[in-house]
Amino acid sequence: MKTSDKKTIGILTSGGDAPGLNAAIRGIARTAMEEYGMRVLGIKEGFRGLIDGNAEEITSYELAGLLTRGGTMLGTSREKPFKNPEKDPKTGKTPVEAIISNYKKFGLDALCVLGGNGTNTTGHLLYKEGLNIIGLPKTIDNDLVGTDVTFGFHSAVNVATEAIDRLHTTAHSHNRIMVIEVMGHKAGWLGLYAGIAGGGDVILIPEIPYNINSISRHLLKRKQEGKNFSIVVVAEGAKNLEEAALSKKEFKKLRSDMNYSIGYRVAKELESATGLESRVTVLGYLQRGGTPVPYDRVLATRLGVHAAHMAARGEFGKMVAVQNETICAVPLEEVSGQIKKVPFDHELIKAGRAVGTCFGD
Ligand code: F6P
Repeated sequence: MKTSDKKTIGILTSGGDAPGLNAAIRGIARTAMEEYGMRVLGIKEGFRGLIDGNAEEITSYELAGLLTRGGTMLGTSREKPFKNPEKDPKTGKTPVEAIISNYKKFGLDALCVLGGNGTNTTGHLLYKEGLNIIGLPKTIDNDLVGTDVTFGFHSAVNVATEAIDRLHTTAHSHNRIMVIEVMGHKAGWLGLYAGIAGGGDVILIPEIPYNINSISRHLLKRKQEGKNFSIVVVAEGAKNLEEAALSKKEFKKLRSDMNYSIGYRVAKELESATGLESRVTVLGYLQRGGTPVPYDRVLATRLGVHAAHMAARGEFGKMVAVQNETICAVPLEEVSGQIKKVPFDHELIKAGRAVGTCFGD
């Protein structure tokens, strides 16, 4: 597949999509082509494309107009090659063996993997197998360690904040409790930021187990003060005190047996505890769709450009990151298998408490 002596850099996007992926692809590809004369190969649908040998050269024509586009031009999948040790009967190879063989067949000198925890963990394992991997931090959940922020996060915060703003007006008109459920199974960054930005009266995140009675007291106090409506922001992974005491396995089973999402349960419990009419909005995939906000376009571009420079100088086994406003790179080993949760004493939680937000505890 190598057609010239040019260096070849591969790019893939893996895991849930997020606004800013295309901006990052453009940042890597433009720099690689323009500054280093490299050939850029786009691998389709994450690690699945590398297993199947599904890739195409990216042309500079395709990069035009890409910066502002949501989603990913390469497609994505949640393929986890190291979780499947089975050999494909047709090729006789395991997914990891197929990846290594296609990496060589494509003549890759470097491979940029754009994704969240799972992607960068896989990237680290592939680096240990001898591939020249560079990770980029993408997720609306903002839960990657080693970087202050991930691209996609601020676009999702924007969507969720706008939704909370809209709910405020209708909550006010009807004197209702409006429960809004946002993404975030393990980490509550999105709920925390959007909740603070939208002036949520209650914010429930996975890191702070909630007690429904504390929330009810808070809402009834608001009513006594003449505030007849309330906004309750709930992360999808929020849990009550009893659930927090369960093992990971027990909790997972309980939630999969529930058949409805947490926002509905919280609304029902609050309605019966307070007597106040409650409604639910589940934002779901709206938070991952659409065009990236300017912050994410800029961040993804900076990270992508830096990744191409790293590929040119042969700096591998690292994830590009931002720390204190400066772009840097951290060893994938430090990122792999980790989740950055909201610390209980985070400054934003303290700020929320100071302005009267209830965190359910
Ligand atoms: O990308 C992260 C995330 O958005 C989580 O917050 C969410 O729980 C999950 O992806 C759902 O993604 P999917 O349904 O695409 O697997």
